[in-house]
Amino acid sequence: MDKLRITGGRPLEGAVRISGAKNAALPVMAATLLAPGVHRLRNVPRLRDTQTFARVLELLGARVSFEGNLLTIDTLGVNSVEAPYELVKTMRASIYVLGPLLARFGRAKVSLPGGCAWGPRPVNLHLSGLQAMGAALDIEHGYIVGRDVKLRGAHIGFDVVSVGATAQLMMAAVLAQGTTVLENVALEPDVTVLGEVLVACGARIDGLGTRRLTIQGVGTLRPIDTTIIPDRIEAATFAAAAATTRGTIRLEGVVPDHFEVVLRKLEEAGCTLQRGTDSVTVSGPQRPRAVNVVTQPFPGFPTDMQAQTIAVCALADGTSVIEDTIYFDRFTHVPELARMGARIELKANVAVVKGVDRLYGAQVMATDLRASASLVIAALAAEGETLIDRIYHLDRGYETLEKKFSALGARIQRVS
Ligand code: UD1
Repeated sequence: MDKLRITGGRPLEGAVRISGAKNAALPVMAATLLAPGVHRLRNVPRLRDTQTFARVLELLGARVSFEGNLLTIDTLGVNSVEAPYELVKTMRASIYVLGPLLARFGRAKVSLPGGCAWGPRPVNLHLSGLQAMGAALDIEHGYIVGRDVKLRGAHIGFDVVSVGATAQLMMAAVLAQGTTVLENVALEPDVTVLGEVLVACGARIDGLGTRRLTIQGVGTLRPIDTTIIPDRIEAATFAAAAATTRGTIRLEGVVPDHFEVVLRKLEEAGCTLQRGTDSVTVSGPQRPRAVNVVTQPFPGFPTDMQAQTIAVCALADGTSVIEDTIYFDRFTHVPELARMGARIELKANVAVVKGVDRLYGAQVMATDLRASASLVIAALAAEGETLIDRIYHLDRGYETLEKKFSALGARIQRVS
C-alpha cells in the first residue's frame, strides 16, 4: 500500500494550477445518461473517483475515453440499468445514476451505498424525492430497484439542505412529465453548474442560484459539451498549506468567489491575500491566529475544509473551536493529528483546538479524503519526518497531489 513520506518545515513557494472539481464532474458524468449521444467534458480531474464513475457508466453500456483531462462519454449504447455494489460501496456518488436511469429508461437497479467512515450518510431524501415524483422503489437484497417508472413533476421541500439530493432530483425532473418545484435546495457551485449544464442541453430550469428551483420537464436533451469548474476544495487545501508553512502560494485557474468564506477565515487567521479574477495569492503568517469555524451549506464554511482547518488551528496562537454541523462524526483526523503533537479535545461534533507552536513528524494513518489532506498540511509544517499510510484516500480526490506540493518546494515522496 502506498504511503507518503513528508519532511516538514519548508515554507512552500510558487504557483499551483488547480484541477477540475471532482464534486462538479461526478454529477455531470451521471447526467450524460439523460441524453443518448456523445458527450464532451473538459477539465475532468483524473482521480480514482472519476475513474470509478467512468467504470460505472461503462458497465451500463456507455463508451468512455479519457484523453488528458478530456472525458468523452458515448451513451448511445447504454443497455443496462444496474450499478453494482462492488463499485457503489467504493464511491457513494455512484447513486447519482439512479435519477437519470429512471428518467430515461423508467428502470434502475442501484446498490444502496451503505455506511461511511463519517457516519450513516443516508440517502432518504434522494429516495423520498423520486417517490414523490411517482417512482415506486423497492429495496431488494441491498439494491434500490425501480420498474415501470414514469416520472412526473412534484412539489418537493427538503428538510435538510443536500447537495446530492438536489442534483439527483434536478436530473430526474428535467425529463419528467410536468413541473417540479424543489425547495430548500443546495447552492454549492457544483449543483448550480450542473443546472447550467442541463439548461445548455435544452432543460428548462428556473431559479438556479436560489433556494427554489422550478423545473419544466422536456422530452429530450442534447448531449453535454462543457468544461468542469475548478476545485474550490483543492484550492482551499493549498491555501491552508500556505497558512501552516509560512509560505506564499499562488492558486491559478480558480473562481475565488467559490471559496471566499475559507479565504476570509484564513485572513482572520493572519494570512495575507491578493485576489485576482482567476487567481489568489495566499501568504501565511509567522504563526496563524486561532479562529472559530462552524460548517454550513454553501455559501457557509464547507465541511470538506473542516479537517484541513483543524490542521491550521493546531499550530495557531490561541484556542480555536471548530464545529461540524453537516457531518457529526467526521473527525478521524483528530487522533492522528494528536500523534503529531496537536492538542485537540473532541466533544461530539465540536473540536476545541489548543494551538501548539510546533508539530512533530510521526507515523499516521489516513482515514478519509479530507482527513488525509489535513495530515499532509500538518506534516508539511511539522518538524521531522511524517509517514502517512493509506493514502489511496488522497488519490480519490486530489490530482497529482505530491507532484504539486513538490513543485512548491515540499519534501514529499510516495513510497510503497
Ligand atoms: C456532497 C459532497 C461531499 C460534501 C457534502 C457536503 C459530492 C460527491 N460529495 O456529499 O464532499 O462533504 O456534499 O457539502 O459532491 N442527508 C440526509 N439525507 C439524504 C442526503 C443527505 O439526511 O438523503 C444529510 C447528510 O447526512 C448531511 C447533509 O444532508 O448531514 C448534507 O449531505 P449532502 O449535501 O447530501 O452530501 P453529499 O451530497 O453526500
